[in-house]
Amino acid sequence: MTKPDATTAIRGLGTCLPPQVLTNDEVAQRGGLDTTDAWIRSRTGIVRRHHVTKELSTGDLAVSAGRAALQSAHATTADCVILATSTPDRRCPATAPEVAHRLGLGAVPAFDLNAVCSGFVYGLAVASSLVTAGLCRQPLLIASETYSRIVDPLDRETAVIFGDGAGAVLLGPASAGSPGTIAGIDLESDGSGSELITIAAGGSRLPGHGVLLDRDLRYFRMQGKDVYRQAVRHMHESSLKVLSLVGWTADSVEAFIGHQANQRILDAVADRLGIDPHYRFGNIHDVANTAAASIPLAMASTASQAAVRPGAPTLLTAFGGGLTWGSVALHWPDARPVDLTPSATAPGNTSTFSPPTQES
Ligand code: UT7
Repeated sequence: MTKPDATTAIRGLGTCLPPQVLTNDEVAQRGGLDTTDAWIRSRTGIVRRHHVTKELSTGDLAVSAGRAALQSAHATTADCVILATSTPDRRCPATAPEVAHRLGLGAVPAFDLNAVCSGFVYGLAVASSLVTAGLCRQPLLIASETYSRIVDPLDRETAVIFGDGAGAVLLGPASAGSPGTIAGIDLESDGSGSELITIAAGGSRLPGHGVLLDRDLRYFRMQGKDVYRQAVRHMHESSLKVLSLVGWTADSVEAFIGHQANQRILDAVADRLGIDPHYRFGNIHDVANTAAASIPLAMASTASQAAVRPGAPTLLTAFGGGLTWGSVALHWPDARPVDLTPSATAPGNTSTFSPPTQES
């Protein structure tokens, strides 16, 4: 747990969702999935999700979300890029350097961070630490995921709950306690649960080069029930830790945003904490579970409705594969979110997705 000096703030919020939207009925109508709109809504709160089309990647969404965050902060540059993702463009190299290059940021440090669905919370800790350590002034933290690429389309436990998207924040120095500043962070992990959320093949343990592997090894797998129980317990306990660290009570929280994994999990955590329903925010119905991207996407959707006053005590909490989890206490940012999602009504409109070129 760490209590930063509260002088690093979120200054810009950007998002990008791929234009293809799939309703629950459309997912249910796909062959081989024995599911219904009613089941998905009642068990998860999800109504629709965005999926990339075949020409788009995690890096493409990240470039647009990163550009949007810069615009939101009225900034032209960043001096570091951290990309939180568990669905990188390639296993090697990291995706962040190419994203930084395509954003025209020059020779800035750029690296991927994989804490699965806790990636944004972990990323806020790393980004604010870099600022506090004086290693950079204005890091760009992007969380971008394309889970539609890794879930098994025939696995109804995962195919219905994940979506694609990217959210980004630009951070920078600020006066202590001002809007956007990070007041406290709790990060934790438990690797004994690494099998609960996994893609078994494709790494050094089971490379699977050229071998036609079983679906259970090739695709993302999640033991939903166990994960559900652990998510509720750890997000609740971690939230209490960070609140106590910064001296806030659950009563004082004016914005609660948890990892958008399942509405029932979010309700259980918020109920246990005693957060007033009026102060719970999210967009799982619209975007489903977008892994690391889910918290910045939910923050942007909340900010676009001006639903929270700048400076308001805010609690973020996340849980994901690893297992990893963590929470952040911050003051709600004073940033108007920018969305660079291309219009779904303009087929082939990829104007905000700049192709990877050498000269950008
Ligand atoms: O993002 C990282 C962290 N991830 C999470 O936090 C996700 C945690 N887990 C979950 O959100 C939930 O466990 C799921 C949404 C994955 C599953 O919901 P559940 O309420 O835990 O369902 P269940 O596993 O208890 O299954 C209940 C029933 C089963 O049928 P029987 O055995 O009762 O006949 C399942 O086979 O629901 C069935 N089922 C489905 N039915 C229709 C499971 N998935 C589906 C489906 N459509 N998509």
